[in-house]
Amino acid sequence: MLEFDRASKRFGSVLALDACTFTAQPGRLTGFLGQNGAGKTTAMRAVFGLVELDAGTVRWRGAPIGMPERSRFGYMPEERGLYPRMRVRDQLLYLARLCGRNGTEVGRSIDQWLERLGLADRQNDRVDALSHGNQQRVQLIAALVNEPDLLVLDEPFSGLDPLAVANMSALLAEIAAAGGTVLFSSHQLDLVEDTCEDVVIIHQGHVVIAGDLAELRAAVPQRFVDVRFRGTPPDWSAIPSVEVLETDDEHARLRVGPDVDLAGIVDAARSAVDLISFTYEPPTLSEVFREAVAA
Ligand SMILES: Nc1ncnc2c1ncn2[C@@H]1O[C@H](COP(=O)(O)OP(=O)(O)OP(=O)(O)O)[C@@H](O)[C@H]1O
Ligand SMILES: [Mg+2]
Repeated sequence: MLEFDRASKRFGSVLALDACTFTAQPGRLTGFLGQNGAGKTTAMRAVFGLVELDAGTVRWRGAPIGMPERSRFGYMPEERGLYPRMRVRDQLLYLARLCGRNGTEVGRSIDQWLERLGLADRQNDRVDALSHGNQQRVQLIAALVNEPDLLVLDEPFSGLDPLAVANMSALLAEIAAAGGTVLFSSHQLDLVEDTCEDVVIIHQGHVVIAGDLAELRAAVPQRFVDVRFRGTPPDWSAIPSVEVLETDDEHARLRVGPDVDLAGIVDAARSAVDLISFTYEPPTLSEVFREAVAA
């Protein structure tokens, strides 16, 4: 388990981390969310000693983190640290050597990852000849070659095409399923909602929400009703305990209180329109996020 315990860091007048406390658990994908400048990168850098905390600690398996632990971690930094003119495979061998890994075993591991991520035929190309998404894959391989226990990825999905996003999220899920601890930051809340078991929401350096995503969603007392229809809709706002969030000619999204009469909504809808679908759900991660950050 990776554990942030009241980690604080100030840069001049900016409190980048403010008693930041959360955990990332083995066997689970943890999504790290927050607005621009919230402190995600600072927190991730602290795991690798690239930011020196003013107070608090980051622990791995209950102990402070030193070089031996870090050599078993994989990191994809926000500023992608590849050498543009080096060839892909040479680059990966070089980065593995920097982490103290040598020999044929590393070469084999690199070849397997190149194959898996569809880069085998680009291994002798210069890094700067690759597209953004392919450079990102190389950076991911660099984080994976030492078969890390902990993977920390700073916005690994940014700029990837939809197929590449699906491949990368499947790969991360596989690593977590094999017992790895995976923490990644992202602004793509739909993606995090689909892939992560746990989420951490940081706001102005302080964690405002953390835990099991399904439990967090279920714990919000409000529910959301989506109605799809054909015809003239009723006046949704006249129904008690209903707040209209969005409405157009074919769809309405309503926020309803815990005491709402659902049958009443269905009846009102059916008397006015052809009902196509009706769903009643906890808030989406986006809604949880907006509430948490606005509060
Ligand atoms: N080396 C630094 N010197 C001065 N200020 C810094 C430094 N690193 C980060 N900060 C400040 O700390 C705050 C947190 O920044 P950080 O990069 O951790 O945010 P983030 O959550 O990763 O944002 P983004 O989503 O934009 O990547 C910001 O106000 C940033 O300007
Ligand atoms: Mg960042």
